[in-house]
Amino acid sequence: MKTGGLGDVMYALPKALVKLNCDVKVILPNYGVIKPQYKEQMVYKGSFYMDLTSDGKQYYVGIMEYENDGVVYDFIDNEEFFTRGNPYTNLVDDIPVFSFFGKAALAALNYLDWTPDIIHCHDWQAGLVPIYLRTMFASTPLARAKVVTTIHNLRFQGQYNIQTIKYWSNLPDEAFNMGALQERWTEANMLKGGLAYSDAITTVSNTYAGEIQTAEYGEGLEDHLRFHSYKLRGIVNGIDVDIWNPATDKLLEAPYGVENAIEAKKANKLALQKSLGLEQDEGKFVIGLISRLTNQKGLDLVSAVVPGMVDGNTQVVILGTGDPEFEDSFRYYENQYKGTVCAYIAYDEALSHQIYAASDVLLVPSKFEPCGLTQLIAMRYGTAPIVRETGGLKDTVEPYNMFENTGNGFTFDRYDAGLLYDAINRAKTLYFEDREDWDKMVIRDMEKDVSWAKSAEQYRELYLQLT
Ligand code: ADP
Ligand code: GLC
Repeated sequence: MKTGGLGDVMYALPKALVKLNCDVKVILPNYGVIKPQYKEQMVYKGSFYMDLTSDGKQYYVGIMEYENDGVVYDFIDNEEFFTRGNPYTNLVDDIPVFSFFGKAALAALNYLDWTPDIIHCHDWQAGLVPIYLRTMFASTPLARAKVVTTIHNLRFQGQYNIQTIKYWSNLPDEAFNMGALQERWTEANMLKGGLAYSDAITTVSNTYAGEIQTAEYGEGLEDHLRFHSYKLRGIVNGIDVDIWNPATDKLLEAPYGVENAIEAKKANKLALQKSLGLEQDEGKFVIGLISRLTNQKGLDLVSAVVPGMVDGNTQVVILGTGDPEFEDSFRYYENQYKGTVCAYIAYDEALSHQIYAASDVLLVPSKFEPCGLTQLIAMRYGTAPIVRETGGLKDTVEPYNMFENTGNGFTFDRYDAGLLYDAINRAKTLYFEDREDWDKMVIRDMEKDVSWAKSAEQYRELYLQLT
């Protein structure tokens, strides 16, 4: 299941933890949209009925299990809650869904008689888990577990009126106070409550851990986070270097390692140009963008600079879906600059691999970016990222230094289209005027360690400290 980076992380981190000798279970909803080929391999582990709402309604909880690479996945089954099209729809529906999910996850652990040392929650959808654990589950074996909550994106918090969240969770009044679930007079906030009840909080880069304690990036929770800052730290994401490996990537026209990257990237470029209907010319500077098309990602800046970017030697390839305003704007440019700009409005895993491999640079000019994975994948594929210096982008991309010939990409600081434009032009200058140094950067990027090894070790150390 993947709608963005959380999917990558929840696949790769457990796998990396298993390598460090941790015993890991991943608990997630048995979403209706999971492909049948995986559903068929799930094994039924049992089922029970669970009290949920304040008027005592009971709901079915099934447990379906699947094992992969030493990681055990327990899918919480309930057709009423999880058969909608997408994992996330709208808050009216999502509040009941994730109230149910949080409680069912804990109840399933007790049912399976599997008592972990650490329960690690991700984002607001798991926000009620720490609260259930310390209230309703306080006298069950599970209560010995310590809780870590990781914030992947503070923009989403699961806010709704107190009445509704009280009804669906049946949590005791004590949890609905200003230090925990309550927010303003009438609202409750699932992430806020979960953070208060967690033993540790992490977020996915050091810079973002600092940023979210300020009004600019705190999304209204900055005071709450400052209050809890003693238990908050950043641990930067990695990527799964087996899935993202240009040397073995079957989706590429010409797989490559550092020894043949420069030539193979040209072959991949020609193949991409052909499949997308762009002018076939290996000499063109290809600018890629792979993103959810939302306000977070700095797309208004991109939109503003497209006409300036296309100078006769440059092509732009955009892959993404999301807000109609951005989809339309990029479609307009494709039409305006036929053969030079391609706006592929879709979610397409295979094409994403081909763009990472074929591009010379990848744009990530985000307004905020907790970590960001596309810049890491780009570097692994020898594609220089052009990023705004925020969150994980700042922590993972070292700016190119022409005097020392160091660095991995191009960066700019203020959220300003002119600065993005300037960064793109710095990249072009190096590409067209000093190809030797450019090629060295391609190799430096491919050799940079973007794996999970170091970060998984940091999570493990955190777990050990807590226990
Ligand atoms: P976020 O989680 O905020 O969307 P990340 O950079 O952490 O951002 O992760 C995005 C992930 O989703 C990457 O693996 C990227 O390749 C993938 N992705 C985003 N949009 C698309 C798309 N349209 N098609 C295929 N993959 C996409
Ligand atoms: C979120 C963030 C992204 C991060 C991802 C995985 O979706 O927007 O920056 O990389 O989670 O942690």
